[in-house]
Amino acid sequence: MEVLGKVADLRDFLAKMRAQGKRIGFVPTMGFLHVGHLALMRDARSDGADCVLASIFVNPLQFGPREDYRDYPRDLDRDKELCRQAGVDALFVPPVEEMYPQGFATYVEVAGITEVLCGRSRPGHFKGVATVVAKLFNIVRPDYAYFGLKDAQQVAVIQRMAQDLNFPVEVRVHPTVREKDGLAVSSRNVYLSPEERKAAPVIYRTLERAGEAVERGERDAGRLIKLLEEGIRAERSARLDYAEVVSWPDLSIITKKIGPGRVLLALAAYFGKARLIDNILVDVEVE
Ligand code: PAJ
Repeated sequence: MEVLGKVADLRDFLAKMRAQGKRIGFVPTMGFLHVGHLALMRDARSDGADCVLASIFVNPLQFGPREDYRDYPRDLDRDKELCRQAGVDALFVPPVEEMYPQGFATYVEVAGITEVLCGRSRPGHFKGVATVVAKLFNIVRPDYAYFGLKDAQQVAVIQRMAQDLNFPVEVRVHPTVREKDGLAVSSRNVYLSPEERKAAPVIYRTLERAGEAVERGERDAGRLIKLLEEGIRAERSARLDYAEVVSWPDLSIITKKIGPGRVLLALAAYFGKARLIDNILVDVEVE
């Protein structure tokens, strides 16, 4: 496995791959890899990308001033080994100055769908995500790029951006990988104390309960939001950030009746300093 830190070196490597007619599958990450990331890499392999490239870059641009950029967990040696085992052909690990050299001044903003959910509680976050992913897409020029549905709004933003800016990439999406007790796997789960870790599955349990209510015929968005809020508030160690019900993939806030079509039920909550997010997509049929 090649490990490259410079854009020019990566471009040379990819030019060689392309000259051999290889299709490039790309998995962007912030590292501290876990089974969720590895599932994306496996998808890239099994989808028939003949060259799998992963990147590890903790992107300062997508963290707010009071967020965890400095504390974000990092373990490059372990990550390299996991990538090697997952059959990654090349790993791009650029230093911050390589991505944002002095004088950097160009940003990508996706309007509308970034104003709800995490976009509302983390102003500027998706500007940082869209900018870095646009840069990575331009550097790598992947045929396929892989993202996880755990970050559903990120998927919607990247798909919108790729379409709006004509990136010649096919965005592929993997369902949320979970621990046995339902907790969505996340690099940030290491922040949880043993007690918080025990309490954290309340997020997915609450989402499932709301999903079951939809299956039983509940269509009132307000009542669903209340169900979500109450589920989190019942757990003393949790502090609710948001509970929202939006249409998918355009993320319009639903105030009255949900459906018909796909609806995203989304939660964000703090457990101590860890801010965890999760969501489920439900199909609402025409009545
Ligand atoms: P990161 O949080 O490292 O996640 C990298 C990719 O792994 C994202 O597409 C994310 O949705 C996916 N992922 C994380 N946990 C997952 C899980 N439990 N199941 C399935 N997929 C999961 O997301 C980012 O990094 C950054 O915002 C990035 C896109 C790299 C831009 O900086």
